[in-house]
Amino acid sequence: MKIVLDCDTGIDDAVAIAYALACPEAEILGIGSVLGNVESDLAAENTLKLLKVAGRTEVPVALGAHRPLVRPPGYAKFVHGEDGLGNTYMPPSGLSVSGEHAADQIIRLARQHPGEVTLVPVGRLTNLALALHKEPQLPSLVKGVVLMGGAATAPGNVGPVAEANIWGDPEAASVVFAAPWPITMVGLDVTMASLLLEKHLECWREADTPLTRWLLAVVDFYFEYYSASFGRRACAMHDSVAVGIALGLVMEQESHLLPVSVVTHDGPAMGQTVVDRRPLVTPGRYSAEGANTRVMMKIDGEAFIDHMVERIALYQVR
Ligand code: RIB
Ligand code: CA
Repeated sequence: MKIVLDCDTGIDDAVAIAYALACPEAEILGIGSVLGNVESDLAAENTLKLLKVAGRTEVPVALGAHRPLVRPPGYAKFVHGEDGLGNTYMPPSGLSVSGEHAADQIIRLARQHPGEVTLVPVGRLTNLALALHKEPQLPSLVKGVVLMGGAATAPGNVGPVAEANIWGDPEAASVVFAAPWPITMVGLDVTMASLLLEKHLECWREADTPLTRWLLAVVDFYFEYYSASFGRRACAMHDSVAVGIALGLVMEQESHLLPVSVVTHDGPAMGQTVVDRRPLVTPGRYSAEGANTRVMMKIDGEAFIDHMVERIALYQVR
């Protein structure tokens, strides 16, 4: 499967990229960067650091949006560390970004492989919105979008009802959800049930590869942050779930094709993905006809994380 990732790398982004690299099902055509967990250029460098460790420096990395479409930038370094990699300050990659903007990379790859590319954004949707603006035909050029973001019925993680990737650039998210392409929304409803646990860290310790050693160092900060909020030793692997779903490697238990819109006005609901669930309960009165978004409601998160951790443990650094 041809995929283009778009990441605000970030600790769970780094795990997601490592997982994608470890999956023979995935042909990673390129990785874009976007601001979010950290600045866009730092996110790109973090991606390059990971590719270096994994021996996969052939994957092109394109620098993307430094700011949201209309709002001021902001970051989540309290979750991911000042360097975005858990304050590990890993050695510089020594590698360079491709020189193409991440939005242009998306457009180019979509044109090169019409109908074949799945976009997998696991950060804010700014680059996708920019790409749509530059190439309005983009929806007919790609296979679809599998995004990590939003929440249907789960509580938000940056506000009462908003998830960070949508809240961080709601105008961009609104443009992306409104475009005529098939979207799979992988939100907090399923990612908060996909937890990395102590036993998984043990599996990586046993594997003891350059990649698992790197990830163990990086994940520690994030693990501590989430463990404090969960009240148990665990952290959510948001972004890996989107990659797994894009690759068809997640056991899906409930999903619905439903209309989704995004709240872009300020207030307690800003950044909410409003999932219209009325067709589920009153199908005679409300229809989901024309809806473009498959909303993931339930997966086997435990089985998925076991599989994801194992794939990474088995990855042979090239
Ligand atoms: O809300 C979780 C999302 O926000 C993840 O993609 C995480 O990496 C951050 O971008
Ligand atoms: Ca992310």
